[in-house]
Amino acid sequence: MNFSKSLIQWYLQNKRDLPWRNTIDPYFIWLSEIMLQQTRVAQGLPYFLRFTEAFPTVFDLAKADEEQVLKLWQGLGYYSRARNLHKTAQQVAFEFNGKFPANYAELLKLKGIGEYTAAAIASFAYNESVPVVDGNVYRVLSRYFEVETDIASSGAKKEFTQLAAELLPAGEANLFNQAIMEFGALQCVPKNPDCANCIFNNSCAALQKKKVAQLPIKSKK
Ligand code: ADE
Repeated sequence: MNFSKSLIQWYLQNKRDLPWRNTIDPYFIWLSEIMLQQTRVAQGLPYFLRFTEAFPTVFDLAKADEEQVLKLWQGLGYYSRARNLHKTAQQVAFEFNGKFPANYAELLKLKGIGEYTAAAIASFAYNESVPVVDGNVYRVLSRYFEVETDIASSGAKKEFTQLAAELLPAGEANLFNQAIMEFGALQCVPKNPDCANCIFNNSCAALQKKKVAQLPIKSKK
């Protein structure tokens, strides 16, 4: 079986049951992705549950007082994220009648939505064939394919995005993107990954060359 198919099969058997994975509502997916920036799943999860309870729709969030939004955000840090979240909710609610733009290019135009978040929403909510590239994806791909590009370099994002795009199976962007991120979070972890018990221990280039600990390469800038 090839890399992408194996990865998806691994995901279906090993994924964590997380609330934003049981929905294709772009509002919930967007909320989760903003909350999980610089935040671990275990820390973000209770916030996600409280937020969606307090603001079940983008209109509820848009109409809330900023004070209430910041209060619910308390403890997550990076408060500019909460302020931007509120502004984006108002934009979607009042300028787009509550409908999130339905493709990657339009999502990118929203305030506070960058390439990563637009790709996550487009693929998870709409199954659009766009790759997500985050730290997990850099790590998994650099190891499996022995990519020695410095991930802090200017060209790295383009190179890894191109590779991820080539690996994306037609019609399975949602599954593939979730799978590669989950694989990086649970199996192909930064420190001391359990390669003896990895589905790729016969095909991972870094493992064969004893370079797992050196990859990905990240220079200090
Ligand atoms: N971190 C960022 N996005 C995530 C997602 N969709 N699932 C799990 N962890 C994540």
